[in-house]
Amino acid sequence: MRSSRSTIAENKMICRESCFVTIVVGLTATLMISLSGCGANRNDQEANGVPSAIEQLAVHRKQPDRLVESQTRGHLVYEHYCQICHGPEGQGNGFNSAMLTPPPRNFADEAFWKQIDQAELQKVIALGGKATGKSVLMPPWGRTINESQIQDVISFLRTVPQRAKQAAAAAEAKAEENKADDG
Ligand code: HEC
Repeated sequence: MRSSRSTIAENKMICRESCFVTIVVGLTATLMISLSGCGANRNDQEANGVPSAIEQLAVHRKQPDRLVESQTRGHLVYEHYCQICHGPEGQGNGFNSAMLTPPPRNFADEAFWKQIDQAELQKVIALGGKATGKSVLMPPWGRTINESQIQDVISFLRTVPQRAKQAAAAAEAKAEENKADDG
């Protein structure tokens, strides 16, 4: 009796094992077929010059990093050369600004960004206000900083409206907090 029971148990085990093996082999085959399908698709896309989704993803992931790096470098350029007139946060209220008419541009002003393009920005920064029909009080920087530093400082200037909004929101939250403490 004992021995026949254990044989049944053994048979069951073997059955389970073989079922498992069949499933694993089946899944592997499916995976391989679908992978080779993707491969063919990718080659087709490459032949057409269309980047694959993975390549596109890689580009999207790289770009923000490059942009942030440029903004960070630009911030340093800005602090060194520009903030004395345009203000520590780019809002046109630098140390020198009281003496300047017209006043230095406030870069937090979103209307300004709608009416100016990259080429114009490059030009006014490199050649100064005089060469671009603006105030001579905006100096030319093309001999002081190079083209890529000009690009970097523009990248930074473009972050000013967002930074101003964040600073305003933080100040408001702080004021609310103080009110709550007083009352
Ligand atoms: C000596 C003060 C001074 C310094 C330093 C200065 N600016 Fe200006 N900037 C001005 C003034 C004044 C204007 C306004 C010109 C106008 O409206 O005619 C201006 C305008 C601008 C404008 C906007 C032009 C427009 O279309 O309205 C840009 C962009 C600019 N500055 C970038 C910079 C950058 C970048 C730096 C640093 C590399 C810098 N400025 C340093 C005084 C300064």
